[in-house]
Amino acid sequence: MIPDSFKQDLLNRVDIVDVVSRYVPLKKGGANFQGLCPFHTEKSPSFTVSPAKQFYHCFGCGAHGNAIGFLMAYASMGYVDAVKDLAAGAGMTVPEMQRSPQEIQRHERETDLYGVMEKAMEFYRAQLKESTEAIAYLRGRGLTGEIAARFRIGYAPDDWQALQAAFAAYDDKSLAETGLVIDNDEGRRYDRFRNRVMFPILSQRGSVIGFGGRVMGEGEPKYLNSPETALFEKGRELYGLTQARDAIRAAGRVLVVEGYMDVVALAQFGVGYAVATLGTATTPVHVNKLLRLADEIVFCFDGDKAGRKAAWRALEVSLPLAVDHKPMRFLFLPAEDDPDSYVRKHGQEAFENLAREAQTLSGFLLGELRAQADLSTPEGRSKFLTEAKPHLQKINAAGLKLQLLKEFAAQAGVSQEEAEALMELRNAGARTYSRPAPARAAAPLITSQEQNLLRCVLAKPALAGTLDFDLLDEHLAESAALRTIAAWLEVEEAPSEAMLAERLRGTEHEPVIARAQTAMLAHGPDAESADHEFRQVVLSLHIKHKNAEIEVLKREAATRPELGAELMRRTKELAELKGRRM
Ligand code: UTP
Ligand code: MN
Repeated sequence: MIPDSFKQDLLNRVDIVDVVSRYVPLKKGGANFQGLCPFHTEKSPSFTVSPAKQFYHCFGCGAHGNAIGFLMAYASMGYVDAVKDLAAGAGMTVPEMQRSPQEIQRHERETDLYGVMEKAMEFYRAQLKESTEAIAYLRGRGLTGEIAARFRIGYAPDDWQALQAAFAAYDDKSLAETGLVIDNDEGRRYDRFRNRVMFPILSQRGSVIGFGGRVMGEGEPKYLNSPETALFEKGRELYGLTQARDAIRAAGRVLVVEGYMDVVALAQFGVGYAVATLGTATTPVHVNKLLRLADEIVFCFDGDKAGRKAAWRALEVSLPLAVDHKPMRFLFLPAEDDPDSYVRKHGQEAFENLAREAQTLSGFLLGELRAQADLSTPEGRSKFLTEAKPHLQKINAAGLKLQLLKEFAAQAGVSQEEAEALMELRNAGARTYSRPAPARAAAPLITSQEQNLLRCVLAKPALAGTLDFDLLDEHLAESAALRTIAAWLEVEEAPSEAMLAERLRGTEHEPVIARAQTAMLAHGPDAESADHEFRQVVLSLHIKHKNAEIEVLKREAATRPELGAELMRRTKELAELKGRRM
């Protein structure tokens, strides 16, 4: 872990304009710098770098981030490498992990655990060479020795304590902590994996963090997996990522499948860019990770009912994370096939053709919702829009949201404006896209008051601590981001402006922050004007609420004259609030 205080210093010290211009020629234009976007092909510059706000933004493709993010995206650096690179340029040294004694101990322990897992993998690999039965099983499934070596496939012998041969201290607690052994109630210890073909699961850095073990032939469970340990959290990891990385970059595409064997078989048949979730549903962490690596995600599911359900779940997770320049697709195989069997039967070309023509995310969403509603009746069309509402509200990608809005409106036989109002998208920022921004629009239009508040907080983080959340529309993504920031301020001092956005990196709030920062390019505020603008926005929210109260009261007062005094008092309060406006 790099301490936040160091990141804060670093971000204060480096100038994003210097960093970006190492790679991209920039020209000054007004307060900002412009250039041709390095993340998509364009003829006129829509790539903007703000020295005041220290971030870059492309009005063409939506690429967005700070100096660290730029190095990660452009130079394909990992987070730590990007920080080190910036630090070196600024003459700073990344502190060698300023850790507490407990943290040091945990770190040593973990390093230890990685060593244990590595050793176990080598043991299983050596055992595979000795087992004619396991070799025959893998051959029977069509795997070459080369691909087995690439995925470091091994074999756990049919023995209760085979690992004793690899670990002299078989009773060491590290073996239990890695999940390699199980301690039974009588205090006897035995190997978790026995008589199984072993698929090592690697972390993003290439260390062994878990195993999946398959029975040879029939048996339950078909795959036995490592439990969650200090090293292994299923919802964060993807099988085959280490092996697939280069192919993902080359193809610009990543394929997400369900099984170990699918990844391995696809790789053997020339489709090297596949990874698998580990027997869990797709998580936001998975999707974020994949979006960082590839321009296009293709989720591949079996054609059966379970496959469609898993796909729907992946769609729901992906909606808020989708970005306009990175399409997501859903590939459904014929019911009798999984990717492994399909690619063996039909070959690489046929499989890749399917992947290329896979259903788009919007096609899948529309199709599923249309199948549940009878569009020939008014009730059916209204149900269709009602069902669509929560999904559309979740989408942060402006272009995708607009396109879907138009589609849903057309199919439901209403105008775009009607659909927008009905699904309450306007508040959630729909205004931005009812007028799609031309490639070089000055900036997106201001959307909601909540976004206005967020802009102020991004310019001056301490403001979040003063917010009255009852005033905010709690459904808006902006409100959620503001709540997260306010929660930090309850336990610590306000981070700097640069650090605030940095800490929200990789969270669900990232798209909303990017949107607010983009609006800041045109509308500010800066740290000086933030207080004033913040007060004005809060005031206008108070006025809005007071107006709403008065409306309700007026209706009630029509039948209950005794409310007249109360109505008068509120009206006076409203006038007082309005008087404070400037
Ligand atoms: P499948 O049952 O579809 O198996 O499980 P598969 O991938 O086609 O495997 P083969 O071809 O029969 O060898 C898909 C994935 O679900 C998880 C594994 O990650 C598996 O690859 N799974 C399945 C388990 O974790 N445990 C199980 O018992 C079964
Ligand atoms: Mn299979």
